[in-house]
Amino acid sequence: MNPFVYSIPTDIYFGAGQIERLGEVVKAHGTKALLVYGGGSIRKNGVYDATVKELRSHGVDFVELGGVDPNPRVSSVRQGVALCREHGIDVILPVGGGSTIDCAKVIAASVKSELDPWEIVRHPERIGEVLPVVSVLTLSATGSEMDIFAVISNPETNDKLGVGHPKMRPVASILDPTYTCTVNAWQTASGTADIMSHLFEVYFSNTAGFMQDRMTEALLKTCVEFGPIAVKEPGNVEARANLMWTSSWAINGLMTLGKEVAWTVHPMEHELSAFYDITHGAGLAILTPHWMRAVLNEKTAPKFRELGVNVWGVDPKLETMEIARLAIDRTAAFFRQMGLPATLGEVGIDESKLAVMAAKVAPMIKGAYVELSEAEILAIYKAAL
Ligand code: NZQ
Ligand code: ZN
Repeated sequence: MNPFVYSIPTDIYFGAGQIERLGEVVKAHGTKALLVYGGGSIRKNGVYDATVKELRSHGVDFVELGGVDPNPRVSSVRQGVALCREHGIDVILPVGGGSTIDCAKVIAASVKSELDPWEIVRHPERIGEVLPVVSVLTLSATGSEMDIFAVISNPETNDKLGVGHPKMRPVASILDPTYTCTVNAWQTASGTADIMSHLFEVYFSNTAGFMQDRMTEALLKTCVEFGPIAVKEPGNVEARANLMWTSSWAINGLMTLGKEVAWTVHPMEHELSAFYDITHGAGLAILTPHWMRAVLNEKTAPKFRELGVNVWGVDPKLETMEIARLAIDRTAAFFRQMGLPATLGEVGIDESKLAVMAAKVAPMIKGAYVELSEAEILAIYKAAL
């Protein structure tokens, strides 16, 4: 285990009815809020009304930025920054999924900067003052509610880039699992695949971390247990609660501390959604088994064996390589069982842009669990066709 500093300061208000804490929480961080949300799901399921009621009853003044797209655009960030400057906003309040929270985080990091938001995304080292972000989560997937990252798309250049800075971690998040009961089966399954991918990206590391790995397996098992239940029974609050808390823990830093990690499947997926605007978790479900098959070898087989035995319940008496292969098969079958696609063709992606994507990804994944050349990345994309 490598040395590390532990600091994960987001205050979490977890459980049904925690929205009642929102007014006092927002007031503790600012006097005028920018309320950020997506395409309208919060208006249909009552979360918007509950939020606004809470803000009004505590005398919190606010301005709205709605219409943030899935795979949020830099144009929405720019719109939000302009509103903040015009209205003297001092706290950002995203209410929604990862896209809304990510958009809010980059707004928060851009308001006091002279840089354009896209420059902020490209140069996190130049981030200075960041306005406080208080989030209300409505979809369990990205972990944005408790992590330092945001992912922003620039359709003009077909770029989708992640940016991370400790100051962008929300100061507080309301996690009411009942708010996720209206998430449809596709987004529920994709969100579960996303959580699992965040865990795979840190589980497969060249640094030992026994304790972190056992915790990671527990979180993976929680997804395996409750993902299918939430897909079949959208109103199952226990399933929703387990997925919600797992989404936050998967990527809040705890599973990574003490380990060297360089994510591989995520940068590969971000290229898919940059060019084709597909759902992030669905892209991960397609690529993950192919990446696993590409990196399985004599050296990595023991790690896949751990996954097979500890998460998928494969018979430990089998040969290591056989267990490793079964672990990958079970992972692929699980995504299928959840109703997720297994090929790029199913989400409308053909071969035409794969070489461009591979060329963009190659420099981003230096130091990965298994180093992959541009040609090897392209081979993974092609295997997924
Ligand atoms: O826009 P609305 O109308 O709100 O509808 C959304 C959207 O259509 C809907 N939705 C959200 N909550 C709902 C709901 N529908 C019904 N009931 C609810 N309670 O779901 C759709 C998808 O929402 P979105 O926010 O896009 O999903 P998600 O949370 O999966 O976020 C995906 C984005 O996050 C990035 C992804 O790349 C993608 O851009 N990521 C962010 C990360 C981070 N910040 O750490 C890490 C991840 O790896 C990921 O890359
Ligand atoms: Zn992800």
